[in-house]
Amino acid sequence: MRLLVNGEDREVDVEDDMPLLWVLRDELGLKGTKYGCGIAQCGACTVQMDGVAVRSCQVPAATAEGADVVTIEGLGAPDALHAVQAAWVEHQVAQCGYCQSGQIMQAVSLLDTNPEPTDDDIDIVMGGNLCRCGTYPRIRAAVKTAATKLQEA
Ligand code: FES
Ligand code: FES
Repeated sequence: MRLLVNGEDREVDVEDDMPLLWVLRDELGLKGTKYGCGIAQCGACTVQMDGVAVRSCQVPAATAEGADVVTIEGLGAPDALHAVQAAWVEHQVAQCGYCQSGQIMQAVSLLDTNPEPTDDDIDIVMGGNLCRCGTYPRIRAAVKTAATKLQEA
């Protein structure tokens, strides 16, 4: 099947029901998206499909066919970070880092739908992405910084 991933047309030979997460990591080598629980509970595998944050461990490959899939690798570049990535660096959000690509993809989605989120908005949405290192206070600060930057852009 053909998939559009990070703006590139990619062809993969996989079963229709292979989770998108496996396609990204094992077929396309995009290891930034992480496997945590495999049952849509942790958010480590979050990517965007047609601009919406989805848990790629629960998206069959066939469902992603024809969609615009964006992973952490496609969000920005080292010399041109997305505003959310830049805010993550500014606030030094990551600790072990395992959950963070999912956190960033979720935060981008949050700001796409709610450009001026309150603390409660952030806590409700980002609380669904589990962080065992407890980075939530810095996630909140970084989302606010990114929101301001995006408003100014
Ligand atoms: S690995 Fe997909 S939600 Fe946990
Ligand atoms: S930074 Fe370690 S799990 Fe979130």
